Amino acid sequence: MIKILAARFAAAFSAVAGHPFDPAVRVSQFSDFQANGALALARQLGRPPREVAAAVVAHLDLAGIADEVSVAGPGYINVNMAAGFLAASAAALLGDARLGVQERAGERVVVDYSGPNVAKELHVGHLRSTVIGDATARTLEWLGHDVVRANHLGDWGTPFGLLIEHLLDLGETAAAHDLSVGDLDAFYVAARAKFDADPAFADRARSRVVALQSGDPETLRLWRLLVAESERSFLAVYATLGVTLSPADFQGESFYNPMLAPLVSELDGLGLLRPSEGAQCVFPQGFSIPLIVRKRDGGFGYPATDLAAIRYRTQELKADRLVYVVGSPQHQHFEMVFQTAREAGWLAEPARAEHIGFGQILGADGRKLASRSGDTVKLAALLTEAVDRAARIVAAKNPELDPAEQAAVAYAVGVGAVKYADLAGDRIKDYVFDWDRMLSTTGDTAAYLQYTYARIQSVLRRSEESASGVSAVEGPLLLDSSAERALALALLGFADVVEEVAETLQFHKLTGYLQSVAGAFTAFYDSCPILRAPSPEVRASRLGLSRLTARVLRQGLDLVGIVTPDRM
Ligand code: ARG
Repeated sequence: MIKILAARFAAAFSAVAGHPFDPAVRVSQFSDFQANGALALARQLGRPPREVAAAVVAHLDLAGIADEVSVAGPGYINVNMAAGFLAASAAALLGDARLGVQERAGERVVVDYSGPNVAKELHVGHLRSTVIGDATARTLEWLGHDVVRANHLGDWGTPFGLLIEHLLDLGETAAAHDLSVGDLDAFYVAARAKFDADPAFADRARSRVVALQSGDPETLRLWRLLVAESERSFLAVYATLGVTLSPADFQGESFYNPMLAPLVSELDGLGLLRPSEGAQCVFPQGFSIPLIVRKRDGGFGYPATDLAAIRYRTQELKADRLVYVVGSPQHQHFEMVFQTAREAGWLAEPARAEHIGFGQILGADGRKLASRSGDTVKLAALLTEAVDRAARIVAAKNPELDPAEQAAVAYAVGVGAVKYADLAGDRIKDYVFDWDRMLSTTGDTAAYLQYTYARIQSVLRRSEESASGVSAVEGPLLLDSSAERALALALLGFADVVEEVAETLQFHKLTGYLQSVAGAFTAFYDSCPILRAPSPEVRASRLGLSRLTARVLRQGLDLVGIVTPDRM
């Protein structure tokens, strides 16, 4: 809708301005849509805004699209859509498998997300990157982009010295068993304790780091064993979470090792390298601190690896867009890496890189979420608790569902609640983790959307129509009541929202939109009988609206990785 209106408005604005001018079309609170561009144009032309708005309206051709256009307030142009246009557009959407969203000529997009560290379990600190990153990958892929998922595992560095020595002490078989039960943290803690208490062990660990770095085959074999066990445990959590990361997406820090020395020479050749306190550094423009690419001891660190990764992604993978879904504390790191890559010529227009930051998850006490003992909360445990809590709710609300179905619903609701809570707020802000609120079937929750979806499926089942697939209807939908009209208008907004979110990666706009659709459906459901509609035509139209609502909810939730059970 916004795109159609924007095109018509653009013609009128450029007629008044004498050059192209952004009409700034938005969804409106006071009418269906509004164009705000007249205010900015008036400033540019030095004319009164209402006069400019009136001139735009005089040039505006919305025949067949809108039936009410008016200038309001300081110079907003309000538009109400023509009922016939909404009815025909909604009917067209029913027959469109893509719900009005055009497939793109794909950009290649690298989405860097999750990125846990080997030999440490996934904990809540990784939840947001994993959930937001996966929503990003799913959404861009559905739009037609060629998405490369990059799981930038922390799989290299000094901790491996003590981990490998601890593994040898335990014996490989026993160690592999310990790790396979998934308790990576305990393994690390034990190794660390020995390192601190036993100087001989600490010496062995240090020489082991040297052996690892110099590529000793036996050491590499043991290192690979540790990495493999960690990857297995990460994949198990990803599977529970319903995240699309696969073994092929692991591209850890170690992958870039062979590229680091050449990278530093290249920076040197470009004249970008300067020594600082014994280290080799880059001083990217606009920053007062250096980016250390080679440490005083000759080792390379996190920044060098990210420089190698960005170069690899633009030059080898030919990425057009690089998205890094990593917590906000790393914002400066990424801005410095991007700026260095620009200066080195590794990141040039039209390729672009974005750090998609996010705030922390807080406990009820307003501090970083922690377990009762004060430790970080393991993701696996958190998801188990989510599903257990959801199971209790489902058992109380739907005792008639058979046990297997109850379990499936509890899983969808529990995991959906955790993901949804993570996406539904502005990602830049912290949010408070609150089980009761996130599992409620009313309010801004996944459960409310899932429940609305299941309710529609139940109506469709009873209608004996073939459920929720794509199907053409004959003629326009009938939108005689205000609730039907409002629902159709909401459904027609899907494409606008998805396209905006694909650009901004602000998923709370999508969840907010889905809430407005569910709200419009609830109002429609309460005031418009569907199965007992006054005539077969009205019944067919209302079933069409219901089917379309179900498809929008399902597709919208699927874009963020939330499952929609058919019954609840
Ligand atoms: N392993 C890192 C951490 O735990 C996150 C990796 C993010 N990605 C990147 N390309 N640096 O902080």
